[in-house]
Amino acid sequence: ARVGKRRITVTGTGYLGATHAACMAELGFEVLGMDVDAEKIGVLASGRSPFFEPGLNEVLARNVASGRLRFTTDPAELAAFGGEGAVHFLCVNTPQSAGSDAADLRYLNLAVEALAPHLTESCVVVGKSTVPVGTAAAVADRLRELAPAAVETAWNPEFLREGHAVADTLHPDRLVVGVESAEAEQALRDVYASLLEDGVPFLTMDLATSELVKTAANSFLATKISFINAMAEVCEAADADVVLLAQALRLDPRIGTRFLEPGLGFGGACLPKDIRGFAARSRELGVGQALAFLHEVDGINLRRRARAVTLARELCGGSLEGRRVAVWGAAFKPDSDDVRDSPSLAVADALAGEGALVTVYDPEARDNAAKYLPHLGFADSAREAARDAQVVVHATEWPEFREIDPVEAAGWVAQPHLVDCRNTLDLAAWRGAGWTVAALGRPAAA
Ligand code: UGA
Repeated sequence: ARVGKRRITVTGTGYLGATHAACMAELGFEVLGMDVDAEKIGVLASGRSPFFEPGLNEVLARNVASGRLRFTTDPAELAAFGGEGAVHFLCVNTPQSAGSDAADLRYLNLAVEALAPHLTESCVVVGKSTVPVGTAAAVADRLRELAPAAVETAWNPEFLREGHAVADTLHPDRLVVGVESAEAEQALRDVYASLLEDGVPFLTMDLATSELVKTAANSFLATKISFINAMAEVCEAADADVVLLAQALRLDPRIGTRFLEPGLGFGGACLPKDIRGFAARSRELGVGQALAFLHEVDGINLRRRARAVTLARELCGGSLEGRRVAVWGAAFKPDSDDVRDSPSLAVADALAGEGALVTVYDPEARDNAAKYLPHLGFADSAREAARDAQVVVHATEWPEFREIDPVEAAGWVAQPHLVDCRNTLDLAAWRGAGWTVAALGRPAAA
């Protein structure tokens, strides 16, 4: 019954905001999404997603058609639409600053300044962006300064994963809510009422702790990945197998089964910049030593990319100059067309930097990849990329690469040389088909 009473707005319609807006409409609310990018807003207003995200098109189309979900480029409309009791979500991105490790809060500050002067009725502004601890309190101050009405500030970090964004939003592991007042808490309980009925844990806390939950969670996940990749480095030196090692570790429930996939390491728009931003913030707070280990986490992660290039170079007899290399995968992970800080593209670029003639194939990320690295070659299939290659680098573990028949693939290439960066291919089958295989963290005969 409460649904429909409060109105919801969402500022910023990237992966986070577009998904959040669509899912809030799916929960039954009237929602208005806003972005400064008119082209993106045009696509969303027609009920389509501007980026590849499984399931999102359906939710957008359904809710745009019903009229519950609308989009605008005008911040003044947000306040008028929301009215009294509105919940205004801020979902703008907070990338790494150019030239430093700190988060760039420019878009967040612009969003607050654009919205605040129009807030003439009491309402709640809820930040979802990942921010350095202390940002929410600063936003609250700014709103008190600029907004004509009484505005409550809350922080509600988002834990969705790209590729699973809709399911993660509608069925989250937990809802974390930083508040300064009972009114703000009630507003968020109203918004998430149906999820609370489903039993999703709702944790309320102060603003600072809620901001820290997000950066702590991403730092833990990054550390877990780098831990297993550090083990991969040791395995390489000791002629041991990190895949078998990880399998054994996972059976200890204290360690847990997930985020222990050894491979090319983490990329994307979140984990790399979040560990850097968190470490930078800890230095500002005078506790830099507490997070100094994140520098190692970053270093281990980046060394995997260099190691992949070394394996490709070795398979080419010591030099990549003039060699044809196929790179399978460009997205930072499967089920995404996102190439921001993609380890796969970093490897492709480094191979080209050593003189290799690189052809990349990715089922979804081709256009985005070509925008970043126009000097690389791009193909429309794994087969086309592999034509006459002297080495094939399996860089992003799209399921279709596991379906490739190694016997058939041996006929595509000039030399059957494979680097498996993700440890998801059946190496015995590839070797059985005559391929010379090198894999990250695994002995020559794994
Ligand atoms: C990550 C977090 O998982 C989300 O909880 C969080 O909300 C999000 O960042 C964010 O801050 O917005 P995402 O970047 O979409 O989500 O992707 P993940 O699934 O976490 O994967 C990150 C990277 O780690 C990928 O490059 C992936 O290939 C790599 N990875 C993951 C590994 O190398 N090994 C693993 O075992 C798991």
